[in-house]
This record gives sequence, structure tokens and C-alpha cells, in this order.
Amino acid sequence: MSSNLFYKKIIDVRLILKTAAGEVMSKKILHGIFIKRLEATDAVPYELLLDADPSMAAIEKYLDFSDIHIALFEGKTIGVFVLLTLNAATLEIKNIAVDERFQGYGIGTFLLASATQIAIDKGFKTIVIGTSNASVGQLYLYQKSGFEITSIKYNFFLDNYTEPIFENGIQCKHMIVLEKQLL
Ligand code: ACO
Repeated sequence: MSSNLFYKKIIDVRLILKTAAGEVMSKKILHGIFIKRLEATDAVPYELLLDADPSMAAIEKYLDFSDIHIALFEGKTIGVFVLLTLNAATLEIKNIAVDERFQGYGIGTFLLASATQIAIDKGFKTIVIGTSNASVGQLYLYQKSGFEITSIKYNFFLDNYTEPIFENGIQCKHMIVLEKQLL
């Protein structure tokens, strides 16, 4: 196994997967999920990145300066997180997403834990993540994973995105910034 593959999660749950024909089938995951740092020759999972951040222009602003990590299951990319060094002490999770068919099984929690472990291993003091005021589920997940709200960037989504974004019937206006202290 490549040394680039690390942090394995074994999950043993029954997933309901929709086939292309719209049929529903169940699948039991018996193997593991691996986290891999993307290499220059690997394909960037843009579709997943766009699930977390609907603006390609916004994604492109940070992608070249970031490390992209993917979650692999049976050789397929089912999740992603993107890490950007803000300064010597702080690492930011700029983007995190799990393939819709695999959501709700603890993989997002595992990706957050993996990102946190990478930050610890690299000696960062703080890990940061931002999400919108409308992203109620994500705010729940991040706080449950030990992140605390530290600030609000008012009107961030109004000022930085050309199209209005809605989630849970609420307009995304402000960026809620959450931090986890690692030391
Ligand atoms: N809505 C409601 N609840 C949610 C959501 C959501 N969007 N996301 C997570 N949760 C809850 C789960 O129900 C679960 O609750 P439980 O512990 O009480 O059972 C808990 O949070 C943990 O969920 P996981 O299964 O660990 O997370 P999952 O694998 O579903 O991944 C993720 C979460 C990454 C947010 C996924 O829903 C996703 O890809 N969403 C679309 C992209 C996105 O919004 N990304 C984050 C944007 S912010 C950023 O990228 C910095």
C-alpha cells in the first residue's frame, strides 16, 4: 500500500444506493475507507467540491494553494477535504464533502477527524472551518466534532458570490467561523 494512504475507517453499515435506473439496492460496506492526499496527476473531484462550495471561481482561488485529500472506498472517491495553511499556527478546512449516497454514515465526522489529525501531526495550533448561517446540519456536525464558533464574517456570501445561495430555505448571507484548539 502506498505510504500516501492513511487513516483507515472501517464501516459496516447497510447503505441504500440508487442505481442509474433509479432502482434501490442495498450494499454492505465490508472494506475500509482510506484517506489519500491527492497527487498532481490525480483527478480533482470537482463535483464533490462544488457540493460544498457552489462557485468554481471561489474554489479556484484556494485550490492551487491547498492540499486536497480524498476518501477512497473500493477505489472510488466518495469524499474530499481541502486544507489551506493560513499561517504558521492555523490550518483551514476550505472544503469538505461526502458523496450524497454515502452521507449520514459518519464519514463526514471521520473526514473532520482526519483533517484534525493532519493539523496536529503538522504542528498547527488551531484548525478552522467556515460555513454559512443557513448550513444548520453542518453547524451541528462541526460543533459536535469539537469546533466552536469564534466569529462571523457578515455578508460574506452576499459580497463574494454573484448568485444568491439558499439552504434549508434560508439565504446564505454570513460566514460562521468555527475553530478547534489543538494544543
Ligand atoms: N444536514 C443535516 N444533518 C447533517 C448534515 C446536513 N447537511 N451533515 C451532517 N449532518 C448530521 C448527521 O445527520 C449526523 O447526525 P448524528 O450524528 O446525530 O447522526 C452528524 O451530522 C454527522 O454526520 P456524518 O454522517 O458524519 O456526516 P456526512 O458523512 O453526512 O457528511 C457533510 C457531512 C460533509 C456536511 C455532507 O453532508 C456533505 O457533503 N454535504 C454537502 C456539502 C457540504 O455542505 N459541505 C460542507 C460545506 S462547508 C465547507 O466545506 C467548509
